[in-house]
Amino acid sequence: MSNKATIEVNGQKHEFPLVTGTENEVAIDIKTLRGVTGGVTTIDPGYKNTGSCESGITFLDGEKGILRYRGYSIEELAEKADFLEVAYLLIFGELPNQDELDKFHSDIKAQSIVDEDVKKILDAFPKSAHPMGVLASLTSALTAFNPTSVNVDSEDEMYNAIVRILGKFPVLVAWTLRKKKGLPLDYGDKSLGYVENILKMMFKQPNEDYDLSPILVNALDKLLILHADHEQNCSTSTVRIVGSSHAGLFASISAGISALWGPLHGGANQAVLEMLEAIKEDGGDTKKYMSKAKDKDDPFRLMGFGHRVYKNFDPRAKIIKSAADEVLSDLGIEDPILDIAKSLEQEALNDDYFVKRKLYPNVDFYSGIIYRGMGIPTEMFTVMFALGRLPGWISQWKEMRLRKEPIGRPRQIYTGENLRPFVDIKNR
Ligand code: SDX
Repeated sequence: MSNKATIEVNGQKHEFPLVTGTENEVAIDIKTLRGVTGGVTTIDPGYKNTGSCESGITFLDGEKGILRYRGYSIEELAEKADFLEVAYLLIFGELPNQDELDKFHSDIKAQSIVDEDVKKILDAFPKSAHPMGVLASLTSALTAFNPTSVNVDSEDEMYNAIVRILGKFPVLVAWTLRKKKGLPLDYGDKSLGYVENILKMMFKQPNEDYDLSPILVNALDKLLILHADHEQNCSTSTVRIVGSSHAGLFASISAGISALWGPLHGGANQAVLEMLEAIKEDGGDTKKYMSKAKDKDDPFRLMGFGHRVYKNFDPRAKIIKSAADEVLSDLGIEDPILDIAKSLEQEALNDDYFVKRKLYPNVDFYSGIIYRGMGIPTEMFTVMFALGRLPGWISQWKEMRLRKEPIGRPRQIYTGENLRPFVDIKNR
C-alpha cells in the first residue's frame, strides 16, 4: 500500500503522508493541508473520522470489541490485576513490581489528607446538589490548596501532582457522598488497600466499626479497572485539550469530570438505572420503551446502548454483566431490574433497528446494577465512573504534556453574515 494520500483541491493535487500505528490503523497526516492549499481545511462534527493525537496508552478495536491498556487485554487485567496496579500501568507504561507498587501506594497515602478548609466549600453546596457538580468544583479547588502542582513541566513535578490527586480524589468522592447523607467526614485508614480504604471512607458509620466485605472490595476493584481508560473519549479529550493550554492537572481533571457528567457519556450509568426503574414502574413493558427508542420523533434513547467506537459488544459490558450476576447472588440480592436489563438486551440484539445500526450494550448498561447492589446511590454512579477513569485521565494528560503537544485549537467554516455597516439604534 502506498504511504501517501492524494487530495485534489481546485484542480491541484496534493500528497500527504500516511501514519500507521502499531496495530496497523492508518491516518492521513494533514498537518500541512491549510498551508499547501491556500486555506482549505477539513470539517468533521464530533470528530467521528478525525484523530487528535498519537497515543501509546489504550488500544480499541470497535469492530472486534477489543480493549487493551498498554498492550494488556482488559479481560486479563480485570481478572488478574488490581486497580492500583492498573493505574500504575496506565500512568507509567509498565506493570509495577512489588517494590514499585508499594512505593507508589505509600507516596499516594502520604498525600491523602485534604485541607480542612475544603469542607467549607463543601458546606456551601445544598444537599440537593448533584455529586458530579460538587466533585468537579472540589477537584478544581485542590489547585488553590496545592499551588506547587499547577505549572508542572518536569516528570518529578508531575509525579508529585499525580500522587496528590490519586491520594485526595477518593477523599473528595467519599466526602461528596457523606455530605449528601449528613454523615461526618473523615480520612479512612492508611493501613488499608487503596480500594478497601475507598469503601471504608464512603460507608463507615460513625458509631460502629466497618467490616470490609471481600465481595464489595473485589467488585469495586474490577469496576474501577474496567473504567480506567478508553482512549480519546469525550472526557479524556476534554482533559487533553484543557491541559494543552498548560492549565494544571487538577483543573484539567475537573473539566473532564464535567464532560463525563453528560448523559450521553458517563452520566449514562445513572440514566440507565432511571430508565430501568421507569420500565419497572410501567409494568416491565420493555416493548414500549424499545419503540420509543426507535421513534425519531421521540427524544428517548435506550440508555446504555450504542457507542461511537464499538460496533460490536463492548468487552467491558460483557465482563460487568457476568459480574452483576455474581455480585448480586453473593450479596443475596434478587434485583428485578437485572432481569429487565437482560430482557431489554435480548430484544435489542434481535431488533433490526439496533442490529442494522450495530447498537450493543456499552459499559454503562449493567454497571449501575452492581453499584446499586453495593449500596451506592444512583446519583453517585457517575462519580464512581470518574473514580475509575482518574488514572486514565492522568496518563493521557501526562503523555500530552511530555510530548509537548501544541495547544488544541480547531478551525471552523464560517456560515454567518458577510460584512455589513453598523446601524445606529435610532435607525433600527
Ligand atoms: C460512554 O467514547 C467512549 O469511549 C465513551 C465511553 C468511555 O469509556 O469513555 O465508552 C463511555 O460514554 C459510553 C456511552 C454511554 N452513552 C449512552 O449509553 C447513551 C445512549 N447512547 C447514544 O446516545 C449513542 O449511542 C452514543 C452517544 C453513545 C454514540 O452516539 P454516536 O456515535 O454519535 O452515534 P449516533 O448518535 O450518530 O447514532 C447512530 C444511529 C442514529 O440513528 P440514525 O440517525 O442513523 O437513524 O444510531 C441511533 C441514532 O439515533 N442510536 C440510538 C442509540 N444510540 C444511537 N438509537 C436509540 N438508542 C440509542 N442508545
